[in-house]
Amino acid sequence: MLAWTVDHSSPSLLALREVPDPVPGPHDAVVQVRAFAPNHGDLESLPSLPDGTIPGWDAAGIVVAEASDGTGPRLGRVVSSLGPDGAWAQQRLVTAESVGIAPAGADPDVMSVVPVAATSALRGLRRLGPVLGRRVLVLGGTSAVGLFAVQLAARSGAEVVATTRNPAARERLVELGAHEVIASPSDLGEEVSGVLDLLGGPHLARAFARLAPGGTLVALGHAAGEEERFGYGDLFGDAGRHDRSLSTFFLGAETDLGPDMTWLATEIHEGRLDPVVAAVRPWRELPDVFGAGTGRSYGKTVLTVE
Ligand SMILES: NC(=O)c1ccc[n+]([C@@H]2O[C@H](COP(=O)([O-])OP(=O)(O)OC[C@H]3O[C@@H](n4cnc5c(N)ncnc54)[C@H](OP(=O)(O)O)[C@@H]3O)[C@@H](O)[C@H]2O)c1
Repeated sequence: MLAWTVDHSSPSLLALREVPDPVPGPHDAVVQVRAFAPNHGDLESLPSLPDGTIPGWDAAGIVVAEASDGTGPRLGRVVSSLGPDGAWAQQRLVTAESVGIAPAGADPDVMSVVPVAATSALRGLRRLGPVLGRRVLVLGGTSAVGLFAVQLAARSGAEVVATTRNPAARERLVELGAHEVIASPSDLGEEVSGVLDLLGGPHLARAFARLAPGGTLVALGHAAGEEERFGYGDLFGDAGRHDRSLSTFFLGAETDLGPDMTWLATEIHEGRLDPVVAAVRPWRELPDVFGAGTGRSYGKTVLTVE
């Protein structure tokens, strides 16, 4: 099969080459990959992966061989599959635990956005507890994870505040369910009960300062690429600042993701969740998608596999 593999001699760190087809174990089904959707984290991980690795966490495709132990998705089903690695290839092995099963007729291009972005948003929000009637801040609302988090928090009954540095993105965030869009947590009026943080850095400390008593900040992303610093007094619990907590999050440590991915795939297919696809391009253009000067549009870029 053809696959994008890590190649440190290439300026993009990637080379499209012929590699052996994957050999399934008893618990593996084989998926013909139809589309994959790169993540911020995929790009960041490339330099540390050995030559020859097939990168990529998210892919969607059609099951072409079932697992011999009888588990996992059935032949012909469209599935969303979660890594680590192995997504940017014509075939991928999946297990029952690593797939969401899409409804019949689902478009694999669209299903490829489910694994990391949508599932992280769902699991990150759950850490905030019930949000019905509560104010929730999505810090980094235009990130791929943030665009799903805004929608899911609004559907859960939260009053959603989202941040973006880009005034042109406000309308899109409101369309997805944000009640208020601000540039920075420093602009928050009332306190919030929960924060889903995709930015980190100084934004995290500023948002933590605006948490109501008993509130939780989930540190899910670090897109700002800056240090987090707390000053003396920032973690005091007096004067209405008691019982605030900070939780770190890693999707790779989450378990039983299959049912949630199946639910997300269904919500997207049935039009209740916007898949936030920014562009669909042929997979041979992958290095251009990652390359400098390609421009930045919000949402996921999907690469279609021939
Ligand atoms: N822990 C996990 O398991 C997990 C899972 C998924 C993702 N992540 C992490 O979550 C983060 C978001 O990922 P993604 O793929 O959704 O991101 P993304 O689509 O690349 O978006 C990043 C967003 O951050 C904002 N941003 C970037 N630099 C900033 C800065 N210096 N200050 C303020 N805002 C800035 C931009 O928004 P504006 O231009 O609108 O301001 C941009 O839309 C990444 O750090 C990723 O690694 C972690």
